[in-house]
Amino acid sequence: MAAVPVSLAGSFQGSFAYFTIKDRLPQILTRVIDTLHRHKNEFFEEHGEKGIEAEKNTISILSKLRNELQTDKPLVPLDDKLPDVPLWNQYLEYQQNLLDGNEQPSWFQSPWLYVECYMYRRIHEALVHNPPIDDYDVFKEAKIESFFESQQAIIALCTYLQEHLKNIEDLDEKQLQEELFKLLQVSLWGNKCDLSISAGEDNSQKASPLKSLDNLKTFILVDDMESIWSLLINSKKRRTSIEVTRVDIVLDNAGYELITDLILADFLLSSKLVTEIHFHGKCIPWYVSDTTKQDFNWTIKQLQSANNRWMSRCGMNWEGSIKKGVLVYHDHIFWTLPHEFCSMAQVATDLYTELQKSHLIIFKGDLNYRKLTGDRKWEFTVPFHQALNKFHPAPLCSLRTLKSDVQVGLKPGQGEQFVTSEPDWMICGKYGVVQFDASL
Ligand code: F6P
Ligand code: MG
Repeated sequence: MAAVPVSLAGSFQGSFAYFTIKDRLPQILTRVIDTLHRHKNEFFEEHGEKGIEAEKNTISILSKLRNELQTDKPLVPLDDKLPDVPLWNQYLEYQQNLLDGNEQPSWFQSPWLYVECYMYRRIHEALVHNPPIDDYDVFKEAKIESFFESQQAIIALCTYLQEHLKNIEDLDEKQLQEELFKLLQVSLWGNKCDLSISAGEDNSQKASPLKSLDNLKTFILVDDMESIWSLLINSKKRRTSIEVTRVDIVLDNAGYELITDLILADFLLSSKLVTEIHFHGKCIPWYVSDTTKQDFNWTIKQLQSANNRWMSRCGMNWEGSIKKGVLVYHDHIFWTLPHEFCSMAQVATDLYTELQKSHLIIFKGDLNYRKLTGDRKWEFTVPFHQALNKFHPAPLCSLRTLKSDVQVGLKPGQGEQFVTSEPDWMICGKYGVVQFDASL
């Protein structure tokens, strides 16, 4: 196989990576500092003077971190006691070994994917070093706010699921396929709502998600929904009563996007297209809005106790599915490492083996796409399978809106047509892909 292309990096002046490291990441750090500052009283009420001291120390570590980033200082090893530290520090050594003798990995010179993940891990390290606020999620407030901002859209989806799919058992194949396509698209466009692209500013779903699907169709650049349908319906037809069909969803953002994923999961289970759904979330706060176990549990509780009866019914059903073991939540440190997914089999063999049990893995969002493709300067027409670089645990697909400079699997000329007409097509979140790889 031909060598892989170079990684996207801040050293490419004028690129989105450069702009992100120069402007967006410092902005996110400033917001984190501001959040800690605003919660000072809360820390005092909970922990007394110790809380205030911890808040001050954390802020001073984070201000130093922002300065290191802005002045392109060398990246330093992590030094807290969490189990992922050896893997992070080996990765730093590996990056060091790629350079000439006296160069050192640094914020603008090293791969963008690496330094961006590193920033979120350093934010976590700053907190870990400062008990009693060491398990404080600095992004929690923004995630909760965005959930409530999307309330109407969430109600619309829960109502749709409960009302339209009451008779799901009576749907014929064509109708079932239509519903699947609809909810795949809802989940795809749910990925517009992440808070890292907007540096934590409100980016919630306001419009009715189901009504806009037809208009959005033209913005899907790769549409492999037919392949997903064939895989699922064939597996349903072949399945004996004791067999399992398992779909894994590698989650992205909490809030509205998570609801779209839960709705999709509920549909897949109720239609009996699948028998088990396995969600994968993050172990630490990540890329502002990514889903942690706390976010997942909080979301289910919010729905259960909501005033709207469709919302609460969804919440009850999902809680029931979790209890029955047909909806399972997992987390793993691999998801918050900087590694490309092609190294999962070596770095996180247990996770790779777990994913091999799946019939279909759905990777949500932009960051997962970057990790699937290694965040490299691929030509637009390179096949998705090639860009996966031997990462094939099971058939997989990506549901992702474009928010960074990598896209593969396009038709000749398809990407080029935007380069002059719409220069920000890859970063504005307006376009999306449903991209499938059979993995064989
Ligand atoms: O900040 C860069 C980035 O990785 C973008 O690629 C994207 O905007 C965002 O962070 C993460 O997006 P998502 O939540 O879809 O993974
Ligand atoms: Mg995200």
